[in-house]
Amino acid sequence: MKKIKIFDTTLRDGEQSPGCSMNISEKLKMAAQLDALGVDVIEAGFAIASPGDFAAVKGIAAVVKHAAVASLARSLKKDIDTAWEAVREAVHPRLHVFLATSDIHMEYKLKMSREEVKRTCREMVSYACSLCDDVEFSAEDASRSDLAFLCEVVQIAIEAGATTINLPDTVGYSVPTEYGKFIADVMANVKDIDKVTVSVHCHNDLGMATANSLMAVMNGATQIECTVNGIGERAGNTALEEVVMALKTRKDIFDADTDIDTTQIFKTSKLLTAITGVKVQPNKAIVGENAFAHESGIHQHGVLAKRETYEIMTPESIGLKENKMVLGKHSGKHALEDKLHQMGFTVGKEELQEIFEEFKVLADRQKSVSDLDLEALVHKKIIKIHESFKLDRFVINVGNTITTTSAVRLINENGDAVEAVTSSKFGPIDASYSAIKQLVGGEDFELVDFLIDAVTGGTDAQGKVTVKIRSAGKIYNGHAVCTDIVEAAVRAYVAAINNMIHDRNLVAEG
Ligand code: KIV
Ligand code: ZN
Repeated sequence: MKKIKIFDTTLRDGEQSPGCSMNISEKLKMAAQLDALGVDVIEAGFAIASPGDFAAVKGIAAVVKHAAVASLARSLKKDIDTAWEAVREAVHPRLHVFLATSDIHMEYKLKMSREEVKRTCREMVSYACSLCDDVEFSAEDASRSDLAFLCEVVQIAIEAGATTINLPDTVGYSVPTEYGKFIADVMANVKDIDKVTVSVHCHNDLGMATANSLMAVMNGATQIECTVNGIGERAGNTALEEVVMALKTRKDIFDADTDIDTTQIFKTSKLLTAITGVKVQPNKAIVGENAFAHESGIHQHGVLAKRETYEIMTPESIGLKENKMVLGKHSGKHALEDKLHQMGFTVGKEELQEIFEEFKVLADRQKSVSDLDLEALVHKKIIKIHESFKLDRFVINVGNTITTTSAVRLINENGDAVEAVTSSKFGPIDASYSAIKQLVGGEDFELVDFLIDAVTGGTDAQGKVTVKIRSAGKIYNGHAVCTDIVEAAVRAYVAAINNMIHDRNLVAEG
């Protein structure tokens, strides 16, 4: 059976999608989870893009134990040098060099002739290979390139030492039969292509990224580039969970498999949602809320009689466990630890204590604490960030006939309490956010998104707020979960500000 390598680009192409930007510590958490998931390559970022990207790639390279860590680089010496500087300490470093090969990209974007592209490819791939043993070359917009010319460029990249050749459908234009034939044609027309890994990278503009990637596998590709939940530029990239589960479920068709520990899929998807605040649609294949739900009576009856009547894969195979133990206010720390373990979370002693304390408060307010509630508490700890400002207290005077006032007190890094009182005719959130902005001296950031969600149903449900702020073109997320929605909103805003300060400090430290 063929082994298909999984090249995960959640932290690079995925992060380029609107609303999905992550700071350094969030990227580090995501990278650790991708390593646990068993991906072969983690594309950690585009090191030259910004000091923040560089620091994130370098940080990930330092901690990832199993997967290769790649940085993207244009075919420019300064890009390759920066990418190498960022990944060189990785256990398995990879340089990912790209250059467009379609006429439209060469003429309008690169302003280079075919000869210049061929020369640049040879020089830059050779240069990358002089630094690193593992070099991937991507022919950007490959699927819309002139086939003969593309084959010449690919041949040059192989001669120059590239070990992986990637043939992207950059604009998501291909359809499955066409893309499969395209891969077969390149394989048939390039000498020594069987000595390198042939990779595919599909975008989902026409909703065909998964199908195109799988057709490529049927025609000789042995690496798929993809992202968790399918996030990515425009309509996104091939969804990791879809190609992995398709290969696993239809081995009879593909005769291929991956090294992914599929029981980590659900957890990885949830972590990404918790970090970015971007939810997957309920009917999303594999990881959507309804992917394993059987609503109609006929289906339920069939599944109860024999699961396989309507289920082609088990929820357990992606790490969704049926869990009968319900926790409530009488449950102890051991029961909580046990439950978290069953849900796939391993938490340290200190974290367990903190989660337990919050669990007790919640259990006091709610009759029972659901898996979703617990997951929200755990994510709150996992994505905990360094707090430059801590919320001490807030008091809001609100009503539909008065101007709202909010008094907020924060504790700053020196341990000093700072307090501001502001009023607003727009209500408690606006009043509190103005007070917080005053306290942190925030002239250089703005609120760009505010999302409220209920973790479970009922008026006693925990409210989850995700706030996005923008500063110097970068987006910072803040999350908070609380039974009081206004408190969640206040905490989420402070968290976003802390995230921004922390990220700036990390970048400054290099
Ligand atoms: O879509 C694309 O072509 C890319 C390349 C840089 C690999 O993301
Ligand atoms: Zn892409």
